[in-house]
Amino acid sequence: MMVWTPEMSVGVALIDRQHQEFVGLINELAESTKTGRAQVTTGLVLMKLDSYARYHFSTEEEYFAVFNFEGAEEHILAHRQLSKRLTDFIDRFYNRNETITEDLAVFLMEWLENHTETMDRKYTRCFNEHGLY
Ligand SMILES: [Fe+2]
Ligand SMILES: [Fe+2]
Repeated sequence: MMVWTPEMSVGVALIDRQHQEFVGLINELAESTKTGRAQVTTGLVLMKLDSYARYHFSTEEEYFAVFNFEGAEEHILAHRQLSKRLTDFIDRFYNRNETITEDLAVFLMEWLENHTETMDRKYTRCFNEHGLY
């Protein structure tokens, strides 16, 4: 099980809560492989991820705009790439009936490590300087 720890904090409570939801979805997927309901749960997790990606990326990007964050362009591009990869998983699962649970789990861990725990940290100073904690 993944556990959200204070080391993962981006220094903004609202965004930390959203990242905690993301960790929750990773755990939901991991749990499903133990219960033998992987297919059903994978479908549910995919739908929740789709919704999560939309509102979570919007949240971050709205603050980029409001605070004129200098790393916005690169960061928004990374969001688009994650969304595209998620769309590919949705296509593989729903349109091509593939079993994707393990690949999806690997993708989500990469997302957590390379984006949530790394790239998202880069806006902390900017957001905090604008009074957002
Ligand atoms: Fe994020
Ligand atoms: Fe982000």
